[in-house]
Amino acid sequence: MMVQRIYLLLLLVHLPLFFFCGFPAILSLSDAEDPATKTMEDFSGYPIHEPHFPNSVSSMSVDIHSLQKQIDELSTFSDTPAPSVTRILYSEKDVLARRYVKNLMRLSGLSVREDFVGNIFGLWEGYEPELAPVSTGSHIDAIPYSGKYDGVVGVLGAIEAINVLKRFGFKPRRSLEVIMFTSEEPTRFGISCLGSRLLAGDEALVKSLDRTVDNQNVTFFHAARSADYANDQEELSSVFLKEGSYSAFVELHIEQGPILEEEGISIGIVTAIAAPASIKVDFEGNGGHAGAVLMPNRNDAGLAAAELALAVEKHALESGSIDTVGTVGILNLHPGAINSIPSKSHLEIDTRDIDEYRRNIVIEKIHQSALNISQKRGVKLLDFKIVNQDPPALSEKSIVKAMESASQELNLTHKKMISRAYHDSLFMARISPMGMIFIPCYKGYSHKPEEFASIEDITNGVKVLALTLAKLSLH
Ligand SMILES: *[C@@H]1O[C@H](CO)[C@@H](O)[C@H](O)[C@H]1NC(C)=O
Ligand SMILES: *[C@@H]1O[C@H](CO)[C@@H](O)[C@H](O)[C@H]1NC(C)=O
Ligand SMILES: *[C@@H]1O[C@H](CO)[C@@H](O)[C@H](O)[C@H]1NC(C)=O
Ligand SMILES: [Zn+2]
Repeated sequence: MMVQRIYLLLLLVHLPLFFFCGFPAILSLSDAEDPATKTMEDFSGYPIHEPHFPNSVSSMSVDIHSLQKQIDELSTFSDTPAPSVTRILYSEKDVLARRYVKNLMRLSGLSVREDFVGNIFGLWEGYEPELAPVSTGSHIDAIPYSGKYDGVVGVLGAIEAINVLKRFGFKPRRSLEVIMFTSEEPTRFGISCLGSRLLAGDEALVKSLDRTVDNQNVTFFHAARSADYANDQEELSSVFLKEGSYSAFVELHIEQGPILEEEGISIGIVTAIAAPASIKVDFEGNGGHAGAVLMPNRNDAGLAAAELALAVEKHALESGSIDTVGTVGILNLHPGAINSIPSKSHLEIDTRDIDEYRRNIVIEKIHQSALNISQKRGVKLLDFKIVNQDPPALSEKSIVKAMESASQELNLTHKKMISRAYHDSLFMARISPMGMIFIPCYKGYSHKPEEFASIEDITNGVKVLALTLAKLSLH
């Protein structure tokens, strides 16, 4: 027993060497050779036989107890009672939660820095620090009354992945960096993925933030200042990163959908992230008494909205792809009385696809329909405004490969899939090759207190992340 243990230790010490020798065919477990001889070979620097590696990988250990405890502790920084979590950008609880994350990063030996929007970075320097680092991370903000796993698994899990590699004796070639992104959720200022959009160099966003207020009429910069971040646009522009700042970015996240759990699969390897476009539409017709105005004489703005909502469904279906979706999530009628013909209507439309061209055709058709409906019903199309139109992103092939072979080496069932929700990865893809790892979550629930991922699934995700980072770091 003792001998075996020492042998294992030697293997761990030599892990960087094994990594270095590349990963192909790592599962080729031959062999009846004497382990001691092999270890000597390794020390001597002669070609290393890969059969060592699976032993090492199977001994990769996640500190389950600490990780679960951290997830639970972080969830207590909330403006609503457990089990719900509410953590809004630059609120007192958000600031405390940030401090908690920074402390964990320091405890893991990472050097911590923050930018002017509050993105937090924890760096583990590689032995070739001049190379572009490999980064990983997610967010910890939480919409009102949501759960404790969305985003959090990809931040605390990333820090634990670093711990796993350190315990392992791994030495990164490229530096590894954990990122906690500011405000992935649009809750406070109506802008999703604020931190990663800015990292990706969104100048229009910096300009618009000058005029942005929350629902209490607090300006963005006032809120940012109160949490010790940006005072002005110039400071905010310093957040931008150049393309090529990272050689890869990988995000670990709960699936937020039911597929992995239903199919009993441990790991989802994301090949593409669908991107939303949002559209706001306003119709104006003629109001009137619901009894007195006869049907042929109406210009009902509500019916125009209803007809447009059905057109959204029709155009999404017409694309012929299951990946095209369209939703009217907001439909307001004015004045909103049972006996009054709607004189105004307001719709907000969300349409998504993994294919930008196809999605833009849907937007164009929705616009055509809005014009047609307006003409047919004698209702004015007051506004048709495309609020945002983010391009979808594809995962980088080499990162997909690294995630796949990491899953294989860890004997974890896995499948390729599409992320139908967007994530910070969508914006990191603008400046870095990108990939995402999904883990199952209970019934696909997310954005509510029932959101849950088992510690076993989280552990699997952390291991795949750790091994993927290790591979990319040596690449
Ligand atoms: C994967 O499965 C093989 C065969 O059952 C086993 O020898 C190996 O140790 C396992 N690897 C890990 C990482 O669990
Ligand atoms: C919001 O604040 C601005 C500047 O202080 C002020 O001019 C404006 O009237 C306020 N708006 C509301 C709705 O309170
Ligand atoms: C709008 O009306 C034109 C002319 O009647 C028609 O050719 C077109 O197909 C309509 N478009 C949509 C999206 O309904
Ligand atoms: Zn998230």
